[in-house]
Amino acid sequence: MTNKFNLTVLPGDGIGPEVIREAIKALKVVASNFDLDFEIEEAMMGGCAIDAFGNPLPDEALAKCRAGDAILLGAIGGPKWDTTDPNKPRPEQGLLGLRKGLELFANLRPVKVFKSLIASSTLKPEVIEGVDLLVVRELTGGLYFGASAREGTKAFDTLEYHDFEIKRLLAVAFDLARKRRRRVHSIDKANVLESSRLWREIAIEMGGDFQDIELIHQLVDNCAMQLIRNPKQFDVVATSNMFGDILSDEASMLTGSLGMLSSASMGDTYPALYEPIHGSAPDIANRDIANPIATILSVALMFRYSFNLDAPAQAIEGAVDAVLEAGWRTADIMSEGKKQVGTTQMGDLICSEVEV
Ligand code: IPM
Ligand code: MG
Repeated sequence: MTNKFNLTVLPGDGIGPEVIREAIKALKVVASNFDLDFEIEEAMMGGCAIDAFGNPLPDEALAKCRAGDAILLGAIGGPKWDTTDPNKPRPEQGLLGLRKGLELFANLRPVKVFKSLIASSTLKPEVIEGVDLLVVRELTGGLYFGASAREGTKAFDTLEYHDFEIKRLLAVAFDLARKRRRRVHSIDKANVLESSRLWREIAIEMGGDFQDIELIHQLVDNCAMQLIRNPKQFDVVATSNMFGDILSDEASMLTGSLGMLSSASMGDTYPALYEPIHGSAPDIANRDIANPIATILSVALMFRYSFNLDAPAQAIEGAVDAVLEAGWRTADIMSEGKKQVGTTQMGDLICSEVEV
């Protein structure tokens, strides 16, 4: 395998550029430690691209993303571009266009509780200690991409799934479960929705081919409740686009902060995309207080999933653990007796742990 990689970086809006700066810093330290060579190409996507080109996903950005080996995204959006006018561009269209344009149908969102942060969660320590689950969300179909329109006083969105879309997503979930604790919760609303009944039929059928995996069907409303009641029951949680969007935000709060969680979006054809699951937090942008950890951990996911390099991934994850264990915190995860630092200093601390 070559040691040279082309990375496309989309800093985006709000705190995006700040957290990306720290992630690139960490990437460079790890790359030099492991003798890996990274060529970095930046592109504009989101609100910044609307301002510069009137288009949230310029062709050039999509082309750069397709041409590289992996993509790292900061965050996009902000009140500046908020509108309910269907004829005006929104930053989110850039992200959705990228997911579709790169056929990134599987979105992996690991939710792991950091021991040192148990006190930052709003839930009881005994409920969340040891939580380690993975949301596998369908990302290029369902309610997000069905026909939708305004017709006079009426508006509609359509929820459609083809069998192949469900099958390829569930295949990813079953495969990942094999490398974990061998349990898949398939989440649907089969008591009401036809598309969910198709989803469930396919899950049952595929379960037959994965006899070593325990398959549990759960209705989405029940799942939302179970995530709070007893999150330790979950290993892999496989679900559709909209349910996955909602459940993954809920699951993230088990860890105490959205600022800690990273995600990977992948398909079969184009490079995978890595991003923190938090948004662009425009209210705290440019103040050096944002938490860069989720973006730094996204770099670890990139090493693991795109380049099959576990050692650099572990070096980053270990450094984050060590810095947290030593008591360093950004404002969002601050608690009594800990030492508060800003975005840049958190990045520096993690880099110096990677170095040793
Ligand atoms: C996410 C976000 C996006 C989504 C938005 C920004 C379009 O909430 O990645 O979860 O809804 O998918
Ligand atoms: Mg979301």
